[in-house]
Amino acid sequence: MFSRRNFLKSAALTSVMVGAGKRLGARDRTPVPAKNNPIVVSTWDFGKVANAGAWNVLGNGGRALDAVEAGVKIAEADPSVQTVGYGGLPDRDGFVTLDASIMDENHNCGSVMCLEHIMHPISVARMIMEKTPHIALAGEGALQFALANGFTKMNLLTPASENDWKEWMKKARYIPEKNIENRLYSREDDPMPGGPENHDTIGMLALDAAGNLSGACTTSGLAYKIHGRVGDSPIIGAGLYVDNEAGAATSSGVGEEVMRIVGSHLVVEYMRSGLAPDMACKKTVERLIKINPEKCKTIQVGFLALSRNGAYGGYSIQPGFTYAVKSDRTEQIFKANSYYQ
Ligand code: GLY
Repeated sequence: MFSRRNFLKSAALTSVMVGAGKRLGARDRTPVPAKNNPIVVSTWDFGKVANAGAWNVLGNGGRALDAVEAGVKIAEADPSVQTVGYGGLPDRDGFVTLDASIMDENHNCGSVMCLEHIMHPISVARMIMEKTPHIALAGEGALQFALANGFTKMNLLTPASENDWKEWMKKARYIPEKNIENRLYSREDDPMPGGPENHDTIGMLALDAAGNLSGACTTSGLAYKIHGRVGDSPIIGAGLYVDNEAGAATSSGVGEEVMRIVGSHLVVEYMRSGLAPDMACKKTVERLIKINPEKCKTIQVGFLALSRNGAYGGYSIQPGFTYAVKSDRTEQIFKANSYYQ
């Protein structure tokens, strides 16, 4: 159980730079860059490598949209990241199903839900955005769309993730063959009911030299979920939102809770009303806690935000939420402040 934090003191707590083991105070963070200084931010420590991929685009004057797609593709292709793309942990029936979304500076957006067999769901989401009149495709239809448009079908379940799933099956009371009632979700049967270790979505936000924002979010979702479950990541406004006049936001954590408050949209609206990115994320986490204080004692949700001026910040329910930042003057991983300590 996490002890409740002192709310008033929380705003004054320092952020911690974890990459180099050096502590940074909140005021030591990278200053708000002058307009048109490119910057990319993304969730979790593995965001650092993904940011480097995005920076290959941004640092050469490229578009934020191209940068976020290139960046998150690195996490999607990395089998050691078991919460995103190839190598993601499967659902309780052993299927790897992926969710992703992308959004640009003009409110163009695309998303894909419960997609199987495709290494880069983010690129399918972008293709849906750019080549169809729709925003979201799901399941078999999304797969058929991807295959018809040049994507290659592959097995996304790595031996490591298959092994983890089989270990989980030994402990879980879930027996797929037994009966249909057994397929009903029971939190008591779930050894990881949305714990902090189970939701490391990558969300990435970028500002390019032209002053335009874009974002991308991609995940294999909750491990051992019911087949067909969709989280917040592909829901525009929940897992990702971009508004060039206000800012961009993304989320990681228990998607069901983020969807309930359309969390990333709320963060952006708080920034529109004048809050700095970290405070906008904090207010959004407070909204979650107000709605369900008991549940929030044990689950993790983190928000990350980037303003239209390139200021950034994050905030989470539980400690441990990190985010990576890359600009022409910094490359760091920060530990976000959290409601509980
Ligand atoms: N935030 C990712 C998920 O819940 O699927």
